Amino acid sequence: MLAGIFLSVGSGGLRLIEERPLPQIARQTPQILVVGGGKGGVGKTCFSVNLSIEIARKGWRVILVDADLSCSNVETVLGVEAQVKLDVFFLQRGGKDLNAVLCDTQYENLKLIPGTTGLLDVANPKYQQKAAFIRELQLLEADLIIVDLDAGAHLNTLDFFLMTDTNGVLVITPEKTSIDNAFKFLRAALFRKIERFYQSPEVALLLKRTESLRDFIATVKTSELFEPEMRKQICGELVAIARGIRPRIVVNRARNAYEAQIAANILSKFARQNLMIEPESLGFLYFDKCVPEAINSGTPFVVSYPKQKITACVADIANRLGFF
Ligand SMILES: Nc1ncnc2c1ncn2[C@@H]1O[C@H](COP(=O)(O)OP(=O)(O)O)[C@@H](O)[C@H]1O
Ligand SMILES: [Mg+2]
Repeated sequence: MLAGIFLSVGSGGLRLIEERPLPQIARQTPQILVVGGGKGGVGKTCFSVNLSIEIARKGWRVILVDADLSCSNVETVLGVEAQVKLDVFFLQRGGKDLNAVLCDTQYENLKLIPGTTGLLDVANPKYQQKAAFIRELQLLEADLIIVDLDAGAHLNTLDFFLMTDTNGVLVITPEKTSIDNAFKFLRAALFRKIERFYQSPEVALLLKRTESLRDFIATVKTSELFEPEMRKQICGELVAIARGIRPRIVVNRARNAYEAQIAANILSKFARQNLMIEPESLGFLYFDKCVPEAINSGTPFVVSYPKQKITACVADIANRLGFF
């Protein structure tokens, strides 16, 4: 990860400032898997819930976190009703402790950090509150923490997605709109990371006018804002920031493996060509009517439909993540 002192382009020209990144989570235990993807309704929550149960029932200690701060619904998909809400954490003064909102579920080895009530105060936590939340997450006792994000590319969502940039999962469907949204989400995450790295209003302004990292690099190469000898160094840093994001793609609602593969390939190609980000493919889930039926019955499909092909897809992904 990029660390230490770096250059900022302020109105007075370049100056050295200290880096203040979001807390990055070491990839020892617990492993943290952040599930995002931009578009609402693509299946992020269904995927997060079913994967959590699948891995927990193999004996791993899993914590599922509902980080959808405006419209949480993990409890509904999981079929539980938590007595506390994440609001308690954000409203705590002084020492914040996520254990205060950690709930047991009906599944052995699976605990839940429920979502918020969605009230305004907690739907938009301050940066320090988010940093505290991310810091506290890594102190929880678990083998795996799965964080279910909300739709869109709000700063909260981007900051949560970036906390484990090598582990982020992008859930998409084979639809063009979903691929497009996931690309925009990835671009917003990358630009957020660049913005936070340089902490310069000028860089932020330039980014707002840019469509891709390649365009941004082209702008930097000719920009009067940067001393000529700095341009090369900045371009190198930009590429390193992009390479540090290695998302994994899960294609949901696919009719077959081929359709899923095509969708993942399109997104990967866009990301590689425009953002210099190289995503990996983590797997796919079939379109299956058992998914809404399972939600309505309050029992996730890996439990209520163990023989469906979609359940085997979830097991494949768990294996690929190293949870045998
Ligand atoms: N593989 C699937 N096959 C059929 N329906 C699905 C599938 N995955 C999700 N759904 C349906 O899509 C809806 C939205 O899923 P959800 O996980 O809430 O999306 P998100 O969290 O991305 O907004 C769910 O209500 C569910 O019924
Ligand atoms: Mg959701």
